[in-house]
Amino acid sequence: MKGLFITFEGTEGCGKSTQVTMLAERLRKLGHTVRVTREPGGTPIGEEIRHTLKHSKDNSAMTGEAELLLMNASRAQLVRELIRPALARGEIIISDRFYDSTMAYQGHGRQLSLAAVARVIDLAVGDTRPHLTILVTVTPEVSATRLRSRQATLPFVRDRIEEGDRAFFDRVSHGYELIALAEPLRVRKVDGTGEVAAVHEAVWRHVEKELSRLTVGR
Ligand code: TMP
Repeated sequence: MKGLFITFEGTEGCGKSTQVTMLAERLRKLGHTVRVTREPGGTPIGEEIRHTLKHSKDNSAMTGEAELLLMNASRAQLVRELIRPALARGEIIISDRFYDSTMAYQGHGRQLSLAAVARVIDLAVGDTRPHLTILVTVTPEVSATRLRSRQATLPFVRDRIEEGDRAFFDRVSHGYELIALAEPLRVRKVDGTGEVAAVHEAVWRHVEKELSRLTVGR
């Protein structure tokens, strides 16, 4: 196998972005070439789409279907512009969210047809699939508390998706649980409620096992 593709998933405030950074630093210290990206976004086109999806002041009326297609437009670009070339070079690529987010948020959260969502994802990614997905779990209470404190410390930026109600986020969490149950070998759950260092060690135990699969990239 050339390259290693790791994705992080979870609800708002689960701490996955901190974990992405910590993992990338540890891998780089070991001499690996690591590329970090995020979804939606990660390319110039994807970052424009991210703005439309999350922060644009004119996006309030966006339908679930438009949201699904924009997420996957960003993804189709990211896969071809960044992920496939990096994997072909034997690098490690870590993405803060990937298609499990679409299943959880647009499929389960927005309640679009799961079969239709899967077809759109297939078109966007083809056979570019994560080798390992870390699902960072927190309770809805922890998620809501962290979100509130983030919004209190950062300059306020409106985020359309974060404006979803409690029932929406409950469906998203439940969706993630179903995804983890369906693919237990790829999707590894890590409890995100503890200290960041402890969460990182739990993440590392899963990543370490995957490193032996890398043939190039050191
Ligand atoms: P984040 O970068 O803070 O995680 O924000 C990304 C937001 O976009 C988050 O609310 C989850 C949402 N999202 C989807 O709804 N579907 C997707 O496919 C992806 C990648 C993200």
